[in-house]
Amino acid sequence: MTRQDPPTLDPVLRLEDVSVVHRTQGTGLFGHGSLHALTSADLVVGPGETVGVVGESGCGKSTMAKVMAGLQRPTTGTVTFRGRDVWAMGDRERRRHLGQGIGMVFQDPAASLNRRMPVRQVVRDPLDVHRVGSTADRDRRVAELLDLVGLPQSAADVLPGQLSGGQRQRVSIARALALEPSLVIADEPTSALDVSVRAQILNLLLDLRTRLGIAMVFVSHDIQTVKRVSDRVVTMYLGRVVEDTPAGLLPDDGAHPYTRALFSATPGLLDPIEPIPLVGPVPSAANPPSGCPFRTRCWRATDVCGELMPEPAVTAGHLVRCHHPVPAGTGTATLVAEAVSATKPVATKELS
Ligand SMILES: Nc1ncnc2c1ncn2[C@@H]1O[C@H](COP(=O)(O)OP(=O)(O)O)[C@@H](O)[C@H]1O
Ligand code: SF4
Ligand SMILES: [Mg+2]
Repeated sequence: MTRQDPPTLDPVLRLEDVSVVHRTQGTGLFGHGSLHALTSADLVVGPGETVGVVGESGCGKSTMAKVMAGLQRPTTGTVTFRGRDVWAMGDRERRRHLGQGIGMVFQDPAASLNRRMPVRQVVRDPLDVHRVGSTADRDRRVAELLDLVGLPQSAADVLPGQLSGGQRQRVSIARALALEPSLVIADEPTSALDVSVRAQILNLLLDLRTRLGIAMVFVSHDIQTVKRVSDRVVTMYLGRVVEDTPAGLLPDDGAHPYTRALFSATPGLLDPIEPIPLVGPVPSAANPPSGCPFRTRCWRATDVCGELMPEPAVTAGHLVRCHHPVPAGTGTATLVAEAVSATKPVATKELS
């Protein structure tokens, strides 16, 4: 598959119209409120494909990652992994199906590893839980996995707390790969690490992905890295997937104003440019605006944006939800000028 191809017909994972609504303590008449962490998400991950997920903090990236891994039950919608609806299965069957097929790497290895278990046991745990092979087979597999992630065999006998952050994340990756998954979901896998080791861990993940032919969902707020390592980039805003585009089209063929604003905020060193200014109020997932969720900050918004949620428009594997998408090939400088000169930004409208 080339980086420009649309998802294959036989996906590893599919989300269809998936929403997650949390009940929250509220001050209203009924003493509680609703927080829309994820709304009507559709997403497909093809075999061997890397899908990057970007968006600012709180936009629902981790919620979507947890839904994909079966760690969060959707309030509505369907999650299909390797052709099977995972929430139509019994609990044991679902744990088996997802546990063997999906590896998860979290942001903070210190928090996600059992600190009382020696590394050997941490890495072996999925093999024990899923009763894979004999004791000797499992020990051999642990040795193989440590090798694969670049840890010395002596690391097997230490506790996670005795390792550096980067080494601990290597242990997490070894554990995630223990059962030879077809999909790895990495949620901000380098964000909690020292800057000096981030590239090493990222390169390890990418190398293993390629060598083992694994599909990957790579969640990060670092949009430039996501673009570089992904086949497709999914932009989320306030719990919604607002764009799903082949990575090679970014940034100048990105059609959603928010995707373009995200890219403009992290210009390349060789191509410095002012960010697109976003001046309106940032809405809350507990009280999302009517119509398009981005309309309180969007310089291209018109009345229809406050009235109707845009339907997804799809062309050649590129999906965008916007009433006024940015035409392909529009440079960032043009959008900066457009945003600056927007005389009466809808950004100042009241949330309804
Ligand atoms: N268990 C929960 N209960 C209530 N709200 C939650 C819960 N988990 C996440 N949220 C809220 O859901 C929204 C999305 O969170 P999250 O998926 O963690 O976003 P991101 O990973 O993009 O930062 C946020 O507003 C967050 O506060
Ligand atoms: S639908 Fe309207 S408010 Fe939303 S991103 Fe498009 S132009 Fe902006
Ligand atoms: Mg998160």
